[in-house]
Amino acid sequence: MIIAIDGPAASGKGTIARALAAHFGLPHLDTGLLYRAVGAKALADHVDFEDEAALAARAGALDLAALDPEALKSGAVGEAASRVAALPQVRATLLTVQQDFARQPGGAVLDGRDIGTVIAPHAEVKIFVTASPEARAERRYRELAGRGEPVTYDQVLADILRRDARDSGRASAPLIRAGDAVVLDNTALDRNASLTRALEIVAARTGR
Ligand code: C5P
Repeated sequence: MIIAIDGPAASGKGTIARALAAHFGLPHLDTGLLYRAVGAKALADHVDFEDEAALAARAGALDLAALDPEALKSGAVGEAASRVAALPQVRATLLTVQQDFARQPGGAVLDGRDIGTVIAPHAEVKIFVTASPEARAERRYRELAGRGEPVTYDQVLADILRRDARDSGRASAPLIRAGDAVVLDNTALDRNASLTRALEIVAARTGR
């Protein structure tokens, strides 16, 4: 069973993906980490964000097993990720590794922006997780402030709106709900209610 979870920044899709993976005993890939790793490498190497070939080369050199989520969570890396993710050569380079992950025997859970549309269009279950920009900004603000980043709520909201516009407006694999994805809007749901709803969606699709 392949479960494809897509949605905008700070929608809670990662939490849902991890919980479903644990519940069904499936491997999980947070595909945002791939773009974040390329963005972080670009920042560290001072690569020009217009230099698509140099950024695609960084994407090709990624080692999935060496990704460190904690080191890639900053707002600056998220912004760099969103910029490199708009480049078709970077996306093309990261396609195979994601598709190979999805095709493992027994299945997998992947979360990102284009899982249900591009990476795993035949996934048995597709969930589009979303929440209002204000609710997402509040969550991301608490997360970043808790990690000691000097940010304000207004800055985080502006970042979220800018990223939404870039992720949805790009020509290459934009953030868009797959026609057969079920929407899970968790603006007014807490973590448990959100997970319960996700399990209901899986059960309705697969009987599991
Ligand atoms: O989900 P996360 O915020 O970690 O993703 C970082 C950035 O990577 C997103 O803003 C998006 O631009 C990009 N991304 C993508 N396609 C994916 C996953 C992430 O374009 N499948």
